[in-house]
Amino acid sequence: MAKDKAIRELEDLPGIGETTAAKLRAAGIDSLDKVAASIPAEFSEIAGINVEAAKKAIQAAQESTTVNFLTGEEISEKRKDIGRISTGAKDFDELIGGGVETNGITETYGRFASGKTQLGFQLAVNVQKPKEKGGLDGNVLFIDTESTFRPERIAEIARAQNMDPEKVLSNIYVVKASTTPDQTLAIERSDKLIQEKNIKLIIVDSLTALFRSEFVGRGALGERQQKLNMHLHKLQTLADKYNLAVYVTNQVMDNPAIMFGDPTTPIGGNVLAHAATTMLYLRKSKEDKRIVRLVDSPSVPEGECVIKITPKGISE
Ligand code: GTP
Ligand code: MG
Repeated sequence: MAKDKAIRELEDLPGIGETTAAKLRAAGIDSLDKVAASIPAEFSEIAGINVEAAKKAIQAAQESTTVNFLTGEEISEKRKDIGRISTGAKDFDELIGGGVETNGITETYGRFASGKTQLGFQLAVNVQKPKEKGGLDGNVLFIDTESTFRPERIAEIARAQNMDPEKVLSNIYVVKASTTPDQTLAIERSDKLIQEKNIKLIIVDSLTALFRSEFVGRGALGERQQKLNMHLHKLQTLADKYNLAVYVTNQVMDNPAIMFGDPTTPIGGNVLAHAATTMLYLRKSKEDKRIVRLVDSPSVPEGECVIKITPKGISE
């Protein structure tokens, strides 16, 4: 490929004209990075060009984007700024290295009623506390895809913390999403809100439910994973850029391939496993008890703890 012409935007890619670029942008492929991360077959379909041409465009995008690196020292400096939101349970906080961390994505997966949403509510309250009390003095963007946001429950949790329920609720910005474009656009367009409202926690509950119901069948799987991947990529970008925490929930599906142990795996498979910084598996135990299993974390060993879901919220 000729290197003399600098590639700065979609139209600079070989075989991509104005019309094709418009189609790509409409489908959310609006940067060279996104082209570089595309799969040829899907790219060809979206752009309306053949697969060979798609491969060439993708390759050109891959060669044009520069590597943005940080030194280990710089990363170490950056990690000092990482904030943590207390879950409300001491053992749980310890399990995950001090609380739900900023700069990363924390995913919980588990069956219905395992407590994923309740944990989200608790974090939405706790993040508003001052730092010395396990919060980040920040506010919340809550993407509700299942219509399970319950202000009265949040008020109850807030009252148990001696916080003003009305004030707590007024600091939670809720977006109801009923389609995947609602969900992804809410995140794509959230920069201004994050800055103006001091958002320190983004909750997506559920991350995968709409994707799962909209993209059905084998043929749709690739597209689903690609869209989910872009969505997660954007969430991670926001987490880094604004030093905020991202909490997402995920359902499980029965996996008949697992003969022993717990035959459930999170929806979204590999995409999610690689994107989430911390993965937690929640399961119901006796009465109000829940078992939290830390499945994956870059910095803390795997382990388990028990929490309770009480009228006051999450506790040990
Ligand atoms: P799905 O979204 O259906 O997959 O489940 P989930 O994992 O989000 O479950 P959720 O967090 O909604 O947990 C539901 C459980 O939390 C219920 O079965 C109750 O045990 C408990 N719970 C929910 N609301 C309350 C409440 O207001 N008070 C108390 N004490 N417990 C509650
Ligand atoms: Mg839920």
